[in-house]
Amino acid sequence: MNSPPDKTPSRIAGMFDAIAPRYDLLNHVLSAGLDRRWRVRAVDALALPDGSRVLDLCTGTADLAIATVQASRGTSVVGVDFAGAMLKLGLTKIRGASLDQRVRLVRGDAAAIPVGTASCDAATIAFGIRNVAEPERALREIARVLRPGGRLAILEFGQPRVPGLRTLYSWYFRYMLPVVGRMVSKHQSAYSYLPASVGTFPPPAEFSRTLAATGFSQVRAVPLTFGVVYLFVALKSG
Ligand SMILES: C[S@@+](CC[C@H](N)C(=O)[O-])C[C@H]1O[C@@H](n2cnc3c(N)ncnc32)[C@H](O)[C@@H]1O
Repeated sequence: MNSPPDKTPSRIAGMFDAIAPRYDLLNHVLSAGLDRRWRVRAVDALALPDGSRVLDLCTGTADLAIATVQASRGTSVVGVDFAGAMLKLGLTKIRGASLDQRVRLVRGDAAAIPVGTASCDAATIAFGIRNVAEPERALREIARVLRPGGRLAILEFGQPRVPGLRTLYSWYFRYMLPVVGRMVSKHQSAYSYLPASVGTFPPPAEFSRTLAATGFSQVRAVPLTFGVVYLFVALKSG
């Protein structure tokens, strides 16, 4: 396995602040629009009753937070992220969709989530956990803010399981994506960091064990798009 990239919080926050203006565009282009579908799958997996209170950690520009409130009546989301420029863009989208009563964005670190204990019915993280310097600590924090039985849905990149597709995807991810990302974002390293961080993220079975060890039960790892992405679903242990 390659050595893990530097995930010092100030470095990661600075990188996302720098690419924020092009982040959404690149997300949609580089995933051929599939990112929206992956987020819908995560929201569906939560099976939220109306009026649920949800934490969206590493919320970025708030796409998952917005998708969550749009899917369930009376649901409210608090989105937490440490990159101010990402949150600023998220806030513009939330106001544009007149959702400011239902989505609140807070600047904060996954290592100390600024949300009360047992105050959330569900939690989500989309493409965030692999960036977190201390993922176990963040998962324990999520377990703290969830009520017992509360549901967690995590989206993260994986490695496709079909051999031919795996090779093609690996080429795209390692060579094509960094070039397009660099051209559009004008950031030298952010889109090289992406495959590097995915390459050192634990395989689904190992990450599922980490979830079980940090306060979650009934852990499921569901491959999406042939395993390009995994959806992890779990319950906060009683
Ligand atoms: C790839 S983006 C994902 C954003 C969004 N969830 C989405 O689906 O588009 C990762 C986000 O995680 C945030 N992040 C990474 N580590 C974090 C930490 N320790 N605490 C808070 N936010 C963090 C970054 O600032 C960035 O906005």
